[in-house]
Amino acid sequence: MKKLLNIVLSASFLAASLTAVAEEAKGPTLFERMGGEPIAREIVSDIWDNHGKNPIVKNRFQHSDPVYVKQKVYEIFAMATGADVEYTGQDMKTTHATMNISEMEFNAVVDDIMDALDENNIAAQEKNEVLAILWSVRPDVVNSNISTKALSPAAAQHAH
Ligand code: HEM
Repeated sequence: MKKLLNIVLSASFLAASLTAVAEEAKGPTLFERMGGEPIAREIVSDIWDNHGKNPIVKNRFQHSDPVYVKQKVYEIFAMATGADVEYTGQDMKTTHATMNISEMEFNAVVDDIMDALDENNIAAQEKNEVLAILWSVRPDVVNSNISTKALSPAAAQHAH
């Protein structure tokens, strides 16, 4: 009986330690590593300011409500970097589909975001992770007819 108890106890101890190891291996989220909500809000505000100073994209946002856009961008930034925050805006394809956004504009927006990360002393590792996330959204944001994809033989064939 004692032996059985020992087995049960050590099994549950093992399970508890494995859970702890798994938690540790998972580590803090990208969102947490960048400083959580206060820094994320700061970054989003700086992105907005940078867009306003960037001649390539500033006209795009001249009729936008900063409070609304910053809130949506905060939500999507937080969610994409692992925070338990719900994004309440439209999906990226629907939002940008009718805007005819070029690769140059996309790159300008990415530059503004990278600058905002620098302004908030985000380290290279975290910057790269954010960059990878942004790059994954690119096909939903850039109009595929005016991207270099349209120059590929397959796309050219498709167009005829
Ligand atoms: C990865 C890149 C991008 C992300 C993650 C992103 C994200 C967002 C989000 C979350 C919204 C709000 C959606 C909603 O209203 O529900 C939005 C709106 C918008 N985005 Fe983007 N965006 C990106 C790139 C761009 C680019 C390259 C442009 C053009 C230069 C652009 C122009 C706009 C405009 C004009 C709005 C509408 C703002 C308004 O409602 O007044 N976005 N974007």
